[in-house]
Amino acid sequence: MKALEMGERVREYMRQLEPEFIRDLHWLHEHPELSFEEYRTTAYIKERLENHGISIQEYPMKTGVIGLLKGREEGPCIALRADIDGLPVEEMSTNAFPSLEKGKMHACGHDTHTASLLGAAHILSALREEIPGSVKFIFQPAEEVSLGAKKLMELHCLENPKVDAIFGLHNSPEIPIGTVAVKKGPLMASSDRIIFTVKGHGGHGGIPQRNADPIVAAAAIIQAVQTVVSRNVSPIDSAVISICNIQAGEGTVNNVTPDQVVMYGTVRAYKKETQKLIEKRLRALTESISQAYGCQGILDYIYELGVVDNAVSLYEAAYEAVTATGARPVDPDPSTGGEDFSEFLRGAPGFFYWLGVRNEEKDCVYSWHSPHFQADERCIAIGAGTYAMSVFQAIEGLQNKSL
Ligand code: NI
Repeated sequence: MKALEMGERVREYMRQLEPEFIRDLHWLHEHPELSFEEYRTTAYIKERLENHGISIQEYPMKTGVIGLLKGREEGPCIALRADIDGLPVEEMSTNAFPSLEKGKMHACGHDTHTASLLGAAHILSALREEIPGSVKFIFQPAEEVSLGAKKLMELHCLENPKVDAIFGLHNSPEIPIGTVAVKKGPLMASSDRIIFTVKGHGGHGGIPQRNADPIVAAAAIIQAVQTVVSRNVSPIDSAVISICNIQAGEGTVNNVTPDQVVMYGTVRAYKKETQKLIEKRLRALTESISQAYGCQGILDYIYELGVVDNAVSLYEAAYEAVTATGARPVDPDPSTGGEDFSEFLRGAPGFFYWLGVRNEEKDCVYSWHSPHFQADERCIAIGAGTYAMSVFQAIEGLQNKSL
């Protein structure tokens, strides 16, 4: 059966199974767990997958689940990924099924991703005879601390069988319910950590001629850093450099020049070349400005998350997958937020969607990580359908290409 004709059957399952999707969502939302502590969530997912006849692949990890569904014949393997962790946030939303865990909440809506992928698992298991290949379900722990995907990649989660393409999604309170963002190329920025250390000679604040003042050098660095985006990065490209934390001196002491200043910040970009350029310029400015002020400057540039760069080769499949569910594809601006889905893109081409969850009438308007965050729960059927249709569309696309 052609992928497009599968759309009708998938939509039928979306309607029929919606009460089950919502039950999953409610349970998950009521039982949030923090990164790498998702034990009950893991047990819940395993049980649901086993009920659908999906085999659990054993990996040496305490939380998170990888399931494998074999279709009617050998063929491409498509991975579908959802993250499963909550946040240390006290829920203050008007949600009818709030968190039962004090101080913990699915404030980034990863419960909507998990419920959507469980829904897709049910739909795809019902349609397994129509799948000319296999599906890997990746329920990833610890997205919020940017470590879960790295861990799974170290465990070679995209092997056995080798994954040909991977799809993932994140809810978005920026776009309305009934829409899904399908964006070609960069969708979410790389996210790197920068640490500046400026070492000088401290001493009496009233006798500055005897000191090498790292605070003055650090102030000059802060100013100079602003020129990297405005003078070095192409105006057609974009990037962010923010210094968000400055540590120097003791308590409220006002008359002692400290020995050193340490500053922490973040860099966001959409291209590897831009990351490299920024690193080079920041290092040059830190070292040379510090030296000019009689200090020593050191930059630690830590590459944390890569760009979520949606594969052009999967764009058509992704677009058709969304259309087939009855949702409307939209093309918003990319986000400067980071997402560890980018780790999986080191192993396979991938595509990441944003699932619209905004609905003013239901107070679903708050941003990620807000204690008021909530999603219009109709998004689960659309998420499940989008995941499921991505499998059919991607396999068809891969097979057409190899013909
Ligand atoms: Ni998130």
